[in-house]
Amino acid sequence: MYIKSIYLENYRNYKNINIDFHRNVNVILGDNGQGKTNLLESIYLTSMGKSFKSIKDKELIKFGEEFFRVKALYNREEDDGKIDIYISEKGLKAIKIDDVNISRLSEMLDNVITVIFSPEDLQIVKSDPSNRRNFMDREISQLYPSYFSDIYDYRKIINNKNSLLKEKNINHDMIDVYNSMLSEISARIMIKRVGFIENINKISGSIHNNITNGKEELFIEYNPDIEIDDILENVDISKIDFIENNDILIKIRDRIEKVLKDNKDNDIFRRSSTRGCQRDDFSVFINGINTRKFGSQGQQRTASLSLKLAEIDLIKREKEINPILLLDDVMSELDYERQSFLVNSIKDVQIFLTTTDINKEVMNRFPQGKIIYIKNGEILEEKES
Ligand SMILES: Nc1ncnc2c1ncn2[C@@H]1O[C@H](COP(=O)(O)OP(=O)(O)OP(=O)(O)O)[C@@H](O)[C@H]1O
Ligand SMILES: [Mg+2]
Repeated sequence: MYIKSIYLENYRNYKNINIDFHRNVNVILGDNGQGKTNLLESIYLTSMGKSFKSIKDKELIKFGEEFFRVKALYNREEDDGKIDIYISEKGLKAIKIDDVNISRLSEMLDNVITVIFSPEDLQIVKSDPSNRRNFMDREISQLYPSYFSDIYDYRKIINNKNSLLKEKNINHDMIDVYNSMLSEISARIMIKRVGFIENINKISGSIHNNITNGKEELFIEYNPDIEIDDILENVDISKIDFIENNDILIKIRDRIEKVLKDNKDNDIFRRSSTRGCQRDDFSVFINGINTRKFGSQGQQRTASLSLKLAEIDLIKREKEINPILLLDDVMSELDYERQSFLVNSIKDVQIFLTTTDINKEVMNRFPQGKIIYIKNGEILEEKES
């Protein structure tokens, strides 16, 4: 799939601009602080309905203005589509897909599909668990929009439970109600995470093996806060439809509910939710050694690259669609060999690539496209690359 054009009004440092894109490669060129990442962010917004930076929607509005609007025209499997996002200072958020208003954010996830790749993504393996959870959540949401709704509901209920735990006179029955709701949703969340890690493990394993010329075996392991290994012991988790298996879901839900119940006193003592899938993580091993703890920086970055490339493959396989790739400043972060590997593995996808200078050697490796020179939120020049 590919984005044909984007229209930005009062978005970050863009006042009013319409940009037509090339269906292969779009190089966003410009000095620091001119709006390159903002442009990538706006494209990401049309796929996920929010920024990839953890900030409030309102902060995307151009300073001093009261609203922003982002419109995108895209093509997916020979069909044209249209996304229109409007967000106001007062908190109004209206999203239209093909001129029809949507009521839940999850409805927009199956339209524009992007994979973003920023310098922070090269830190997935070594950074905090929250970044790895975000990676999982973002990716699984694109594969299963219902997961996005589950995550959304889960966060809301956890927040409510935490507020309750901070009250002077705690309503015990209400905690039980929350725990039971959380168990139901977590079972669905966890089973999808199990399936995702299984898939990403297989794909990234072979990618990593290729990048390292067979020297390194990569292995990814899901580390849920609440153990469910024994429940899945005789289940073929490589079959994607195992996640629909009701018996397993019920067993997982019961397990979670028991752990939450057993920890109720501890929650009350600590005045926060001490157990649950909000604490899940995954580990990355290279040749059997935990990369986050013992890997070299280069190994951690290469493993992160393998994970991201696996993300693209998984989308291609599961959704039968080529996602749009957003590369923010990553080429400069990779050495020659890894750059080549990246470029060679992303054939047939539309690419947006930000850079402060055109490196001929890097550019020559990409298919033909367009260079868009940005200065202070405006296009200074557009030309064929
Ligand atoms: N809400 C906003 N309204 C107006 N301007 C904003 C807003 N948010 C960010 N900016 C401005 O956008 C600019 C940063 O844009 P961006 O991050 O896209 O730069 P960049 O071209 O990617 O730079 P770099 O090469 O350093 O990564 C900053 O100058 C910042 O002040
Ligand atoms: Mg930038």
